[in-house]
Amino acid sequence: MGITIAPIDQADQAALDAAYRIRAAADERDVPDFPPLCRRRLEAGLRNPMPGIAPVWALARWDGEPAGYLALFLPQLDNTDNATADLFVHPAYRRRGVGRALHAHGLGLLRARGRKRVVAMAVSGLPGGPRRDEAGDAFAAAVGARAALAVVRRRLHVDRLDRAALDVQAADAASRAAGYRAVRWRDHTPEEYAADVAYLDSRLMADAPLGEVEWEPERVDVARLRETERGLDARGRRRYHHGAVHVASGRLVAWTLLDLGASVPWHAFQQITIVDPAHRGHRLGLLVKSENLRYALAHEPELRAVDTFNAAENAHMIRINEQLGFRPVDAWTDWQLTLSSAVADPTVRCPAAA
Ligand SMILES: CC(C)(COP(=O)(O)OP(=O)(O)OC[C@H]1O[C@@H](n2cnc3c(N)ncnc32)[C@H](O)[C@@H]1OP(=O)(O)O)[C@@H](O)C(=O)NCCC(=O)NCCS
Repeated sequence: MGITIAPIDQADQAALDAAYRIRAAADERDVPDFPPLCRRRLEAGLRNPMPGIAPVWALARWDGEPAGYLALFLPQLDNTDNATADLFVHPAYRRRGVGRALHAHGLGLLRARGRKRVVAMAVSGLPGGPRRDEAGDAFAAAVGARAALAVVRRRLHVDRLDRAALDVQAADAASRAAGYRAVRWRDHTPEEYAADVAYLDSRLMADAPLGEVEWEPERVDVARLRETERGLDARGRRRYHHGAVHVASGRLVAWTLLDLGASVPWHAFQQITIVDPAHRGHRLGLLVKSENLRYALAHEPELRAVDTFNAAENAHMIRINEQLGFRPVDAWTDWQLTLSSAVADPTVRCPAAA
């Protein structure tokens, strides 16, 4: 029978279960320090997509047994030439051409939908760090993708956190932030800050270093922010936010978000942190991040590890993270494949686009 590929319909629980098992096994082998995969999060990617994202998923079988899956995410509101992809092959079925077959299937789907490029992430080891299988990088290079952005994951081990130093840093940052006041909230953004949070969120892609990744700034307004919140609710993510309000104007000009998954109380991701360009240089980034960490720790007694991803060239944000005690774990590469330069593989027949 060899390799067969079929679309995953959102009503097909058995196919989603198979994708879950593949991804969980892949993570366990490739990034064993990651929190166990959250089933709600994975399934919501197909059933409750983030606003403006059209998901298209496919399951590959090897002699009838689930062996790998591809999840394409197609932006509809902006970046309509672009897509992102998750491609995972179960460790027991690697190096048999399953990845290549899913990739060829994906190219057909992307071409049929007029997309020009696709971006996916792969992990690799850092010198002195834990060993990582470099299959993802090797695979991406083999299919003609280009390394477009170097990213480093850093982890904060909460039991090694120097809380006294955190207090000093927060106090020092606060002393340089005269004219601003800190605000905080959980989960849903209060209406009074929603427009400012949407504005800051929409700046992210314009402000964060993207290397050679061709990605347009995302258009975020309050309606999209609220839809994103519904998407995060569906995933069961518990969110902790801190912001800095510029007292004179009443505007929220800095914002950070840390969140935990529904099923793993010991792990959080430090997500976005952004300071409006007109208000940089007042230590607001360090202030909101350090205060938010304390806020989350006060409500999450089992929290032991916080991970954060930064572009390797984002020196300013990395300095803040290092000050807070985050240390490098592994390297991640954003691989960008331009469809016109995808390597044609004569051994794979591209399945008809679904
Ligand atoms: C990357 C991944 C999808 C590859 O799946 P796979 O089914 O083993 O890939 P294939 O057998 O189709 O390999 C295709 C080509 O990729 C390259 N490749 C794949 N794994 C490799 C490895 N471990 N070392 C070196 N090259 C490798 C080879 O060029 C290979 O062709 P060859 O076997 O003819 O030499 C799989 O290892 C995986 O799930 N990794 C974790 C997630 C990930 O990194 N996804 C890709 C993000 S870009």
